[in-house]
Amino acid sequence: MYEQVSHSLLNEILNKLETDISKQDLRHFYTRLGSNFYAIHSLFSRLYGDRDDFKEQAQLLVETMARQYINRPEHLMQLDIEREKDHNWFLSQKWVGMALYSHGFAGNLAGVDERLGYFQELGINLVHIMPIMRCPEGHSDGGYAISDFREIDPRAGSLEDLETVAYDMRERDILLVLDVVVNHTSNEHQWAQLARAGDPVYQDYYYTFEDRTIPDRYEENMPEIFPQTSPGNFTWDEEMGRWVMTVFNNYQWDLNYSNPAVFIEMLDVILYWANKGTDILRLDAVAFLWKKIGSTCQNEREAHLILQLLKDCCQVTAPGVLFIAEAIVAPVEVAKYFGEDAVIAKECEIAYNATFMALMWDAVATKNAKLLNQGIKSLPVKLDRATWLNYIRCHDDIGLGFDDSDIKLVGYEPMEHRKFLLEYYTGNFAYSLARGLPFGQNDKNGDARIAGTLASLVGLQAALEEGDPTMIDDAVQTILLLHGMILSFGGIPLLYYGDELGKLNDYSYHDDLGKSDDSRWLHRPTIDWQAAGNRNVSGTIEYRIFSALKRMIAVRKEIDVFADFNNRALIEVENPNLFVFGRYNATKQAESVLVVANFNNLPQQLNLDNISGWSRNQGCQLVDLVSGQTPDLEEEVLTIPGYGFYWLGELM
Ligand code: GLC
Ligand code: GLC
Repeated sequence: MYEQVSHSLLNEILNKLETDISKQDLRHFYTRLGSNFYAIHSLFSRLYGDRDDFKEQAQLLVETMARQYINRPEHLMQLDIEREKDHNWFLSQKWVGMALYSHGFAGNLAGVDERLGYFQELGINLVHIMPIMRCPEGHSDGGYAISDFREIDPRAGSLEDLETVAYDMRERDILLVLDVVVNHTSNEHQWAQLARAGDPVYQDYYYTFEDRTIPDRYEENMPEIFPQTSPGNFTWDEEMGRWVMTVFNNYQWDLNYSNPAVFIEMLDVILYWANKGTDILRLDAVAFLWKKIGSTCQNEREAHLILQLLKDCCQVTAPGVLFIAEAIVAPVEVAKYFGEDAVIAKECEIAYNATFMALMWDAVATKNAKLLNQGIKSLPVKLDRATWLNYIRCHDDIGLGFDDSDIKLVGYEPMEHRKFLLEYYTGNFAYSLARGLPFGQNDKNGDARIAGTLASLVGLQAALEEGDPTMIDDAVQTILLLHGMILSFGGIPLLYYGDELGKLNDYSYHDDLGKSDDSRWLHRPTIDWQAAGNRNVSGTIEYRIFSALKRMIAVRKEIDVFADFNNRALIEVENPNLFVFGRYNATKQAESVLVVANFNNLPQQLNLDNISGWSRNQGCQLVDLVSGQTPDLEEEVLTIPGYGFYWLGELM
């Protein structure tokens, strides 16, 4: 949009551009800057407009974008243009992702590069390699405490290794996802070191205070994220002689985005990784980006403005690059990270669907789909050009992040119900086969979250200990059922490494001082490639899970209505054990697929005659697209086996 104030500022900025910038061919840069500058200017001035140096900061901002545009490799510029033309590319059902630690998956980046064939074998074409930037030797929160944003941690490899992986992935049509930890740095980062040494410029990069007056006021409303290992939100730094805000671990210093220098530095980091060939950047802990006394310091309006500004700026330099919002927050808050009141995502194109994840864990524990159905009803509608990342497990804990009001609506008492779920998954409940551990227990309010691998949480570990084939079958079925959901729900399914092989909990972290206080290491496995070879040996657990997933992934890619165009309808049915939804193509009714999932251990029935919004075509044969078989159907009454699911389509 053309608007006088921003346009005249833009002219001023362009006239003052350094000659090393202005003499370059900046054609695409100028057109994109022109179209986004009104928004960039309004956001930047909303955040930093009352500063005396506002104009200089705006100049720096534009120069940062321009320099990274000049650095952008030619093939990535081409890709930007291709994606501009095919702007819905990421909504396609052909994407299937996996998240992994390079060290756990294959030792390091070079190991990952050697294993690219494994992804293709399974059908994975989007790989999230978790943090690989330089981090401290001991405690580093699994790499989420970064000490250098532009270097690869030597344990993972080198920048060349990353460039090789990025190149080889692109050759194989696999998308690369990397993290940018935008909310904080490690206390070993150079900025923190300079702040410690007393440099006021860098003390302003963080929230530091000489005494407890302000920290105490913040604390009144701030929850604790890691109450066991890092209680409170501030840490006294002896060397600096000041308190510093540390919302996560005490060695993770929160960046201060009320300082434009921080914003510009982090934008530069984002564009730097975009230029290294990253297709999608996962922005970590975005809900925490803005701190305000009197608030929980999560989901603040300004956190959204910062994300919008990052998006607008990234679109100028590297428009083909997408953002994932890692905001593990309440259902109504999550959808806001796509950006409000828009068609296209104004903030992040992709967001973790933590609501769906937590609800599925509720269904597994209760063996019914009551809360799952209710919770999905309250999942906010998302924008057209935005999508969910649907997952079952990840490297983090499972938080029971659904609404108390939904829990009440289905007839449970919220406190009691949450207590039941925790006890169920930590193996303290009479009939539970789950082998999880609590994470982040907070004795002050009784909160806790859950750690454990998918296989161990659904009872495979217990079943193998007992050597009970029926229990083993149930656990394997549950693993497939849950994957059947993320592969059909709408959005990008994100598998977690090891789950495709049925990896059990790994207790070895107990012996590692850098990890022993963090039970999330229970579910961050090291792949044993010899054992992984069992995926090709019929009858093994690895084979049963891997081969079934492989088939489901291949089938998903062929089902057009699984692309995410807000084309899902939840279907209410009487049987509380079933979760049923339709995926349709708005123009061609005949192409709809009915997904029916049974979260109970016993077979359940569904009468297809009275399913609202879905009708069978006369003379067509019903088929389960996963198995290619006709499901168990008698006079329109479908029987779904215990922990079974169908993707039902019709054959003419
Ligand atoms: C993100 C990461 C998590 C980490 C936290 C703090 O939520 O997923 O593993 O502990 O950020 O960096
Ligand atoms: C909290 C944060 C989330 C993070 C998790 C790590 O839930 O909201 O961002 O992943 O802690 O355990």
